[in-house]
Amino acid sequence: MLFLGIESSCDETGVALVETQATGVPRLLSHALFSQIDMHQAYGGVVPELASRDHIRRVLPLTREVLSKAQRELTEVDVVAYTRGPGLAGALLVGAGVACALGAALQKPVLGVHHLEGHLLSPFLSDDPPEFPFVALLVSGGHTQLMKVDAVGSYEILGETIDDAAGEAFDKSAKLMGLGYPGGPALSRCAESGDSKAFKLPRPLLHSGNFDFSFAGLKTAVLTQAQKLGDALHDPNTSQKANLAASTQAAIVEILLKKSMAALKATGMKRLVVAGGVGANRSLRVELNEACLKAGVRVHYPELHLCTDNGAMIAMAAAMRVQSGQQQPQMNYGFDVKPRWPLSQIDALGV
Ligand code: KG4
Ligand code: ZN
Repeated sequence: MLFLGIESSCDETGVALVETQATGVPRLLSHALFSQIDMHQAYGGVVPELASRDHIRRVLPLTREVLSKAQRELTEVDVVAYTRGPGLAGALLVGAGVACALGAALQKPVLGVHHLEGHLLSPFLSDDPPEFPFVALLVSGGHTQLMKVDAVGSYEILGETIDDAAGEAFDKSAKLMGLGYPGGPALSRCAESGDSKAFKLPRPLLHSGNFDFSFAGLKTAVLTQAQKLGDALHDPNTSQKANLAASTQAAIVEILLKKSMAALKATGMKRLVVAGGVGANRSLRVELNEACLKAGVRVHYPELHLCTDNGAMIAMAAAMRVQSGQQQPQMNYGFDVKPRWPLSQIDALGV
């Protein structure tokens, strides 16, 4: 079966084609992405109305592009999948509207996908896909969760952030240091030349004994430190900005690392899957690789370009849900979207 996937939940329009196979994991045939980063950069963050309008401009050209790349016709598509939530309401409506219009025109069923399930299953798009079961560390701009994943659709949340997400901690810290948007890549680039031990920053909930996270206190500590430094933070003759960036990154990475290793130990799992935009962070990957090697744990990541939002993960999640019998696509084009949609309620609302 051929799945067309459309992602439009935030500031990236992504479209992809994934095909199920007689055996094994579905295969990615082609994908295309348009990032709105340049457009939102001037505002220091995502402007929802501008995001929606731009998705409208991009979805169909990107759809034509993936069909042409895969040398397939639109009429060959069996299921049109789209991100149903969570995300920005207006942005989600664009993808859902186009997907349902395409489905109705082609008389093919449609399927709404949970954005986080897309991230979670994105490592299956890599050349070395994981096997179930595994512990998943989902670290995106809006979510930070540790999960026990037994199969497609079987997600037990072990812990999650009680305030900011890890990506948010990167973004907010970067912003108050005067680094660009999105903050994660900017902060981690700046951190490369810094000393991660230069500033002592807190690691909230590190010893809480559970798998919950908290990053709001860290952001406040970074703010206090930045204020103390004053002009010195921006002085190119000192490396204070790089030092603060490196210290911030080290704090976030240590929290993610220690909690993940504790979750692996508690569940007895020998496999870790990392997903979401922060999964692209080089320092996180280096630290996790080392700790997992020591603990005899296999660690899987999405390919670097599929860590952040994309259409491939939406097409893949739809294909895996259908293949596993979790969900059937519907010839029902009266779409809605779920801007707030906890992953724990995926079954209640997803079918
Ligand atoms: O998964 P994603 O594309 O969007 C959401 O679903 O939220 O994640 C975006 C987040 C942003 O917070 C961004 O700053 C962060 O991922 N991010 C990174 C890196 N690349 C993206 N954070 C740290 N290091 C990176 N290299
Ligand atoms: Zn995302």
